Amino acid sequence: MEPFAAVDVIRAKRDGERLSAEQIEWVVDAYTRGVVAEEQMAALAMAIFLNGMDSAETARWTGAMIDSGERLSLHVARPTVDKHSTGGVGDKITLPLAPLVAACGAAVPQLSGRGLGHTGGTLDKLESIPGWRAELSAEEIGRQLAEVGAVVCAATPTLAPADRKLYALRDVTSTVESVPLIASSIMSKKIAEGSGALVLDVKVGSGAFMKTIRQARSLARALVDIGAAHGVATTALLTDMSTPLGSAVGNAVEVVEAVEVLKGGGPADVVELTLALAREMLTLAGLSHVDPAEVLASGEAYETWCRMIHAQGGDPDAELPKPAHVHVVEAPESGVLARLDAYAVGVAAWRLGAGRARKEDPVQLAAGVRCLAKPGDRVERGQPLLELHTDTPEAVPAALDALSGSYDLTQRHNPGAAEGTVLDLIRG
Ligand code: URA
Repeated sequence: MEPFAAVDVIRAKRDGERLSAEQIEWVVDAYTRGVVAEEQMAALAMAIFLNGMDSAETARWTGAMIDSGERLSLHVARPTVDKHSTGGVGDKITLPLAPLVAACGAAVPQLSGRGLGHTGGTLDKLESIPGWRAELSAEEIGRQLAEVGAVVCAATPTLAPADRKLYALRDVTSTVESVPLIASSIMSKKIAEGSGALVLDVKVGSGAFMKTIRQARSLARALVDIGAAHGVATTALLTDMSTPLGSAVGNAVEVVEAVEVLKGGGPADVVELTLALAREMLTLAGLSHVDPAEVLASGEAYETWCRMIHAQGGDPDAELPKPAHVHVVEAPESGVLARLDAYAVGVAAWRLGAGRARKEDPVQLAAGVRCLAKPGDRVERGQPLLELHTDTPEAVPAALDALSGSYDLTQRHNPGAAEGTVLDLIRG
């Protein structure tokens, strides 16, 4: 005999009431078991979308999703700390960050996903490295964490299975963009992965989920509150996603850029954000005395990257896939690049084959966009602005269509001070 009827829980939320802890625990568990039907959960998700959940309800909802599966128990001597990004265009930060923070003395268990839509997925990027394997068992994750200090791999299917089911339902019922549902979805997976601390990179701008700083702040606050309620020290950074991060957007092209950063070079915004996130992670891990900039410069982070890739069957020295076709977009006039829109570049990369429309679609490892100028740079007429990489040249017109109106060239020398990448910080 079930203790509640789904229809009563739906009605309560529809009428703006708070759900009790018992109602939440039951409804999430019963949905996972198939006792609450998809259409009932769809109605409840819409009621939550419209009427919200307060922070206590959201923390309970997260706990119920964690309890729907297994929690990894990481037995490593070092403090564990992870990072999660809400997703952006050119966001390859995990690639240099995980080995850097490991080289600084923490253990980084980073269970990642594949890309869907205009934002890329970390696993798709790493799979451009010949031999590299995303699927690891819980034992392999534990061993690699102890031996290398960093692991980036696919989330095991036993982590928060309720979220997997609910996320697919939200996707087709227009209930994704709800702060309590997004926050509980992200945090259930991250807390189940067993890390002691967590830094969140909440993206703001055209290429992000959250288009305004106000929305991003509200999501960041909800995420940090859930962390606190579950005893996981959590900090959120709000970072700019109005323009692509770095120059490379795609799969193999982003790996190349990440390796440049690990070797002491790379675009300034990628280095800045990698170090900012590393500092917060080290603070939460009790390692604030270690300077990540020094460790990056010493080459130790690059060595850890090579060991991390090797441990998962990859060859860090192998040549990465090259595109069959490169199309160059030239500057139509001379001037200063005042704007380069992240969303447009993300959609162009996706149309070139770097991303997928359905989760079972394959991606082209060599597809993507290289942004040869960044906002604030002066360019001359005819100078290459963007390089479009693809194995399917018939995709180029659709990518160009996405890029139409995506950048402005101005005759002013200073089109306005460029903001730094980090816009705000919210601590628990
Ligand atoms: N990412 C997630 O994992 N869940 C959401 O609901 C949105 C983004």
